[in-house]
Amino acid sequence: MDFLNRRTVRRYQDKKVEKIKIHEILRTALVSPSGKNTKPYEFLVVEDEATLKKLSHSKQMGATLIDGSPLSIVVLGNENSTTWVEDCSIACTMIQLKAFDLGLGSCWVQIKERKTSAGTDSEEYIRNLLGIPGYLRVLAIISIGYSDEIKPSHSESDMDFSKVHYENY
Ligand SMILES: Cc1cc2nc3c(=O)[nH]c(=O)nc-3n(C[C@H](O)[C@H](O)[C@H](O)COP(=O)(O)O)c2cc1C
Repeated sequence: MDFLNRRTVRRYQDKKVEKIKIHEILRTALVSPSGKNTKPYEFLVVEDEATLKKLSHSKQMGATLIDGSPLSIVVLGNENSTTWVEDCSIACTMIQLKAFDLGLGSCWVQIKERKTSAGTDSEEYIRNLLGIPGYLRVLAIISIGYSDEIKPSHSESDMDFSKVHYENY
């Protein structure tokens, strides 16, 4: 598996993601590394077309791709954890990499610290829409499906090695 071939996918084929693949992704997500192994993450799987459409309005820009996609996993974190942002971010990445491993495309849609076009907090919008309890924060939505885009792999020109330092800065 060459992770340089993983690219964000925002356009998907009109094809459902098989239940077995969703299960495989969730198996991976549920064992994502976490601070003190506390696993403060929870995952909400959405396949309903009408709900996905509503999720596509969860922020001003950058979420429209969810409308017309077959699957979203909403990544939630228990705010009582001091590492919920890190742990949920890792879970998001694990979900994206497992999706890639299964031949699927995905896109991270940021929710934390975003607003809807009506000015509502995006987390609040999603909490109300999906009945999520208040102590759970909404970090992001990972949109998943079969890619309908062709994108080049990452190459050497995308890698800025001046950002890498050895032994001393
Ligand atoms: C924290 C984070 C937030 C992101 N938020 C969005 C988003 O809201 N909408 C979107 O279309 N893409 C979003 N992306 C995807 C990035 O735009 C994408 O990863 C980046 O352009 C690099 O492209 P690549 O994934 O193909 O390497 C986000 C990615 C990350 C890591």
